[in-house]
Amino acid sequence: MADLKLDFSAFTASERGVLVAFCDETGKFGAQTRRILGDSAVFAERAISAERFKGKLGSTLELIAPPGLRASRLILVGSGKPKDLKTKDYLKLGGIAVGKIPSAASEGMIVAELPTGAVKPEDAAEIALGAKLRAYKFDRYKTKKKDDEDTRSSLKLTISVANAPAAKKAWTQRAGLADGVVFARDLINEPANVLYPEEFAKRATTLRKLGVRVEVLDVADMTKLGMGALLGVGQGSRRDSRMVVMHWNGGKRGEKPISFIGKGVCFDTGGISIKPAAGMEDMKGDMGGAACVVGLMQALASRKAKVNVIGAIGIVENMPDGNAQRPGDIVKSMSGQTIEIINTDAEGRLVLCDVLHYINTKYTPKFMINLATLTGAIIVALGQEYAGMFSNDDKLCDRLTKAGNETGERVWRMPLGPEYDKMIDSKFADMKNTGGRYGGSITAAQFLQRFVGKTPWVHLDIAGTALGSPQTDINKSWSSGWGVRLLDQLVADHYEG
Ligand code: BES
Ligand code: MN
Ligand code: ZN
Repeated sequence: MADLKLDFSAFTASERGVLVAFCDETGKFGAQTRRILGDSAVFAERAISAERFKGKLGSTLELIAPPGLRASRLILVGSGKPKDLKTKDYLKLGGIAVGKIPSAASEGMIVAELPTGAVKPEDAAEIALGAKLRAYKFDRYKTKKKDDEDTRSSLKLTISVANAPAAKKAWTQRAGLADGVVFARDLINEPANVLYPEEFAKRATTLRKLGVRVEVLDVADMTKLGMGALLGVGQGSRRDSRMVVMHWNGGKRGEKPISFIGKGVCFDTGGISIKPAAGMEDMKGDMGGAACVVGLMQALASRKAKVNVIGAIGIVENMPDGNAQRPGDIVKSMSGQTIEIINTDAEGRLVLCDVLHYINTKYTPKFMINLATLTGAIIVALGQEYAGMFSNDDKLCDRLTKAGNETGERVWRMPLGPEYDKMIDSKFADMKNTGGRYGGSITAAQFLQRFVGKTPWVHLDIAGTALGSPQTDINKSWSSGWGVRLLDQLVADHYEG
């Protein structure tokens, strides 16, 4: 793990290692940056014009052994037009800076100043968050390193700012968010022989040290509750199913909680309706929704968010077996509604429907937002850039859309309606678990909607965004930890205090 040790210092601190400085589209530096660069400022300006470096947001120019500096290299990062910079741009700048620090370097310093002046403490913290997320690596199972691979064990990164104490304080608010995203990424990257339901539940209990109350329900508990849908999915596995309910009570006493619910299929073979072999290994990430919920609880508890929150995850393994459920089987959900299993590979909705019903009836939350790597069809529809959003509540959708644009974890609303709903009516039971070839993501959402009553509800289909993630400036890992930042932002914007 390329560990990143972060610190903030005043502009007066002396530079060392690799120095990162920002310049705008006119090739200008801030006054403090110029002072720190000293003699090498002129050298940098010559390089900028020789290279015709335009300072576009995120573009870089590297100078080796800059004269008059102790630093081994100077990396110029374009800030674009400073006044246009949004939160997510600072995040990106932090990621780019770390990406440009060579693996041989053990120390680096980012001068967090723009030509227009100092970077605000919150924005400096955002740079730090981008740096942390970019530095993330999941390499715990690699016992050997190739010659050209990252040899440093840790990078000490200093961010120089105008007001170091203020930036540090802003960072303490953000550090838990970084930990939450990393926690989610780790859970998703873990293979299913290591992370099976019981182990997943155990890792969720580590949140107790942050003051989160964590309940773990086992098969006997869920049998008593009548969770036939969830239990049916897990019955073919050697690994017992679990449900974990996490409570963070940072809000007013007695105030209704908000709630987040995640699909946690530790491995999805498809069951008896078995999946083709190609790419099946990706189904170790079919618990991405649950991982996001756990990461979010970590983030909220770390910054002592002033809100009452419930996070609930259904954790199972979907396997073919002599005891596995069959197509044609009819199961009874906790809500009392019966379900005909048409395809055992449509298992996520079966897990979620019991958790949604349980949370809704036991806690009457203000809203329920569920996350699930639910359908391949959403990847066909939206690719890997947007998660599909299905909802019975326009206001909640607007808030999520806004939080998505702020954080870069974007959502796109998809339709629901009675015409789609009737596609899951069954000949033998109250409903069937698939609706045929057309509109596969929508009929999956219609299925979930039958379990949420009148409670404001959003279903986010994250099959495209949670795993096999495109490489970005803030993520080089297979899993993105998608949703932790989005939902943390939603809570911060609307549900605290
Ligand atoms: N876990 C899959 C969906 C998925 C696909 C997630 C690709 C991530 C990447 C889900 O359980 C599934 O198998 N869905 C089926 C539903 C179908 C049988 C109605 C699908 O999408 O094909
Ligand atoms: Mn499946
Ligand atoms: Zn699945």
